[in-house]
Amino acid sequence: MTSTDIRALARRHLLPHFTKGAAWREDALPIITRGEGCYVYDDSGRGFLDGLAGLFCVNIGHGRSDISAAAAKQMESLAYWTNWSAAHPASVEAATLIAGHAPGDLETVFFVNSGSEAVESAVKFVRQYHRGQGEPQRTKIIARDMAYHGTTLGALAVTGIPKFREPFGPLMPGVRHVPNTLGERVPEGGSAAELPSVKAIEAVIEEEGPETIAAVFAEPVQNSRGAIVPPEGYWQQLREICDRHGILLVADEVICAYGRLGEWFGSAKYGVVPDLITFAKGATSGYAPLGGVLLRRPLVERLYDSPQAGTFTHGATWGGHPVSTAVAVANLTALSDEDVLGNVRALEPHFQAGLDRIRDASSSVAEWRGTGFFYALEFAADRHTGRPLTEQQSREIVGEVMPRAMRDVGLITRPDDRGATMLMLSPPLVADQVVLDDLLHKVSAVVDAVDTHVRT
Ligand SMILES: Cc1ncc(COP(=O)(O)O)c(C=O)c1O
Repeated sequence: MTSTDIRALARRHLLPHFTKGAAWREDALPIITRGEGCYVYDDSGRGFLDGLAGLFCVNIGHGRSDISAAAAKQMESLAYWTNWSAAHPASVEAATLIAGHAPGDLETVFFVNSGSEAVESAVKFVRQYHRGQGEPQRTKIIARDMAYHGTTLGALAVTGIPKFREPFGPLMPGVRHVPNTLGERVPEGGSAAELPSVKAIEAVIEEEGPETIAAVFAEPVQNSRGAIVPPEGYWQQLREICDRHGILLVADEVICAYGRLGEWFGSAKYGVVPDLITFAKGATSGYAPLGGVLLRRPLVERLYDSPQAGTFTHGATWGGHPVSTAVAVANLTALSDEDVLGNVRALEPHFQAGLDRIRDASSSVAEWRGTGFFYALEFAADRHTGRPLTEQQSREIVGEVMPRAMRDVGLITRPDDRGATMLMLSPPLVADQVVLDDLLHKVSAVVDAVDTHVRT
């Protein structure tokens, strides 16, 4: 098939996700055909540095024959069996490995197929759990402004991004969104309890009635609105508030788990044991679809022991698929054996020093945020005065200037306009110093293009 044919067929038969009509209809849909390490190649053979690890997921890097071999071996021995009233060795082994890396008594895994489904499953678990404990009125969810928790209708109700929610209302009622921690810092000598974001959670709980709240959902580092790192002590406050009111704490780690922040789980980095962790993406490094919910063992026991519940009334045909879970085992084993998380921790200062240099040399990078291998650059019209970009400038930078500069230098990553004008960076976790330097060099060229555009 020629390049022209494949694009024509895509335009006719393939409906792409979150893609503007103009981009779908034009003749330039990127077609990626191959990946190796931290680089991918298009249908003309041109290489691009994968600055977003696919979609924050290819943690182990592209083109690993050990992982494809594990998938093939599993298909040959048992292509499919269910986890409904049954199990198979791959799902058990994957669950055991995941539990072994998890903090505290998070020991039990419910597998699904995506991050959205993981969030759906967590919503359903917390509701059924409370019902089983004789508290059927505990149905409400607290989540944070601008947070992305997925697109299926339950997960979308938890998502706090207005433009993703608006076309699909009315959504599941009973979800309250509270401010995220953007720009917050614990005052000198003070505590995280004084943060406006923490006080807002307390206020919403009081307003709604603590006995009606089922769970608080939050990402350790919030992706949407640009890699928001929590202030010191924030997660301990969430834990304390939830404990005080009998509310379950759900860490959505669809991005943060499996090394993105340099730890197996982001919650561990911030010293907290949530009640549930949702995960997906890095569990298989994108070699097969898999999501899941990791649950504290006593919660599962209580749900099973409760006369009102007795079973978690939820499941999916593909949940814990043998091939996906065999891939997870191979991927998690490789991440561990090759100390990939150690690579992230060792290179984090180098990454951050490079971002400092890019910001200091630029007139339009207001700041960078992030940790591990997970960053956002945020742009302003003038970083020294803080003068914001106009709406038109922002549209041009996100829609034209950055995509063009990225194409020119051979970089794939995500310009983001959710709440500000940003560039997201989240490379494969196997990137060494040479790859990171290549990334920083390319990002610097993209930033130069933005500087020039804003100046002129
Ligand atoms: C934090 C978070 N939760 C949930 C999701 C939804 O995951 P999926 O796209 O696999 O449905 C995402 C996707 O990026 C995410 O970042």
